[in-house]
Parts: sequence; C-alpha cells; structure tokens
Amino acid sequence: MSTSNPGDRLLVALDVDTAERAIALADQVRGIAGGLKVGSRLFTMAGPDLVRRLVDSGARVFLDLKFHDIPNTVAQAVDAAVRTGAWMINVHASGGSAMMQAAARAAADAAASTGRQPVVIGVTVLTSMDEAMLKQTGVARPLPEQVLTLAQMAQAAGLQGVVASPHETAAIRRVCGPDFAIVTPGIRGASAGQDKNDQARTMGPAEAVKTGASYIVVGRPIIGASNPRAAAAAIVDELTLNGEQ
Ligand code: C5P
Repeated sequence: MSTSNPGDRLLVALDVDTAERAIALADQVRGIAGGLKVGSRLFTMAGPDLVRRLVDSGARVFLDLKFHDIPNTVAQAVDAAVRTGAWMINVHASGGSAMMQAAARAAADAAASTGRQPVVIGVTVLTSMDEAMLKQTGVARPLPEQVLTLAQMAQAAGLQGVVASPHETAAIRRVCGPDFAIVTPGIRGASAGQDKNDQARTMGPAEAVKTGASYIVVGRPIIGASNPRAAAAAIVDELTLNGEQ
C-alpha cells in the first residue's frame, strides 16, 4: 500500500495513562508521525473526548480497541468508533466472517452519514500467543497458517487490512495483494533503538516496510526517549533513506 510520504507510515502508540500526557506526546510528534494509536488503557481512562481532541488537532487516530463480540454489538461499537472521528479501527478476525462483515457494513453506513470512511482492520493472532496456546483454544493448524487464514477471511469479509507481527507481513502481502493494509507492531533495532522491552520477535522500521508493512506501530522507543520528537524523526529518516514511499 503506497502512502504519500514515509512519515505517513509511522503510527505512534500513545501508551500513557492520562489525556494530558497523550496530548503532550501528540504535540511532540505533530508533523512527523502519520498517526496516533489510542489503545484500551488510554481509552478507558480518557474516553472518546480525547479521541475527538486528537482528531480536532488534525491527527489521524488508530482506535485500537480490538472489538470481539456478537455481530450486532460489534456493528454498534464500530458505528460509535467511527463517530469519534477515528481514522483506523480494529476487530478480532477470530470473531468470524459474520462479525467482520457486520463491522465493515457498520463502518460504511456510518461513513455515509459522517463523510469519513475509516480503515477497518482485523487482528489475526495476538503476538503474545504461541502455537501451544493456540492449540489450547482448539486451533490445531500451525500458527502461520492460522494467521494467513484469518487475514484472508478478513479480506473476504470486506476489511481493509490486518494487524500482524513483522514476521508475518511477507506471507500476508503475497496472499492478500498490494492494496491490503498491514499494520505491524514489534518494531525495534536500527533507528527504533535496541531495547526490545517485552517484544520477542522484532524488526527494524525500514526492514518491516520492506517486507510488506503498510504501517509500523512504535511505542516505547519514542515515548521513552529523552526527546520523543527526535526519536520519531530518526525513524522517519530511516524510512526515507531506505526509499520507502
Ligand atoms: O512500545 P511498543 O513499541 O512495543 O508498542 C507497541 C504497541 O503495539 C503497543 O501499544 C502494543 O499494545 C501494541 N501491540 C503489540 N503487539 C500486538 C498488537 C499490538 O505490541 N500484537
């Protein structure tokens, strides 16, 4: 998926616990990062008002709430998410085709009245899961196969992309084609710093984009830096130098 400039690909995870901290961080990366990710902790603390404030400040907001419920409830949640002005929202692909179709439909319907069409993506297999855990839940097929199956299901249901580990992007890109959005966290190394924190399978920013990521999600390497703006700029420089457009 092509974006107009390399910085568009960088989504900064606002993994902080107050609206004030989130706004401060958003101010620091304004004009550099292509989007801001609001996850369930920040959303639970600060709510839709914060999302609206970020949207009103001109930011693209990825509302990472990973909806997973019966189709009707997910459709209503997606409708509410679109009305916050969020640019990207997600649901668990393991919720099934009917649930994802309901999400896609709700997003299109809400877009018709708000004039804003969000990018709706599916979460494949959480990167915290391994094959043994997957088996415990009754999924017998190998993990990479399960990721690809869920990505294809998401695409067939009308979603525009998936969240996946950087190690899965190449296979998903091959199977789902050039226009499918692949969003990858677990970015470390090169300009994203050497401290892996709790991320086990990581990849550098440029390498992740090269293997097929449309967007990279980076949290602690930016939030934890003494100068978050400079840290974000270094990642965008790495993408630019590597000719990722
Ligand atoms: O700080 P770090 O760069 O590891 O942040 C990555 C962000 O992406 C966090 O918000 C984390 O919750 C999220 N994420 C992840 N792995 C997934 C899905 C989401 O790290 N599989």
